[in-house]
Amino acid sequence: MAEELIISTSTDKQERYTTLVPQIQSLIEGEKDEIANLSNIAAALKQSMDFFWVGFYLVKNNELVLGPFQGPIACTRIQFGKGVCGASWKERRVILVPDVEEFPGHIACSSASKSEIVLPAFKNGEVALVLDVDSDKLNDFDAVDEKELRKVMNLIESFL
Ligand code: SME
Repeated sequence: MAEELIISTSTDKQERYTTLVPQIQSLIEGEKDEIANLSNIAAALKQSMDFFWVGFYLVKNNELVLGPFQGPIACTRIQFGKGVCGASWKERRVILVPDVEEFPGHIACSSASKSEIVLPAFKNGEVALVLDVDSDKLNDFDAVDEKELRKVMNLIESFL
């Protein structure tokens, strides 16, 4: 595994992801433990992309339970179909929310959170966890985040 994360100083989001994603791949190489890998991925995303909140909710006993994350404290449990995370789980798809106040049922763990993207990862055809990224700015996520974070989800699926 890499000993130090190289962080792009570019203001271009695509460039920062391009520097980051291969490093996430080497970070998880040779390590099978799910929590260890998710913890390092959350830290690498936070450090490189400077997200307000980034972390995982894991499917456990038919609910989402807070997993490794970086940022302010957050809600610990989310029910199937509830909030953006629960909707991503139920609908088995990426959900991009430009303005959380416009998303029916959004769960406000922090009033500072203004926009959000949630991506599911699958194991044996079922959603095993979701990645949730929150921003304190409106409309902060776009197709670049979706494309690059999908690559991260593919890497995650390799150890689930
Ligand atoms: N906003 C999320 C809840 C998780 S926190 O933002 C960390 C949701 O609506 O599912």
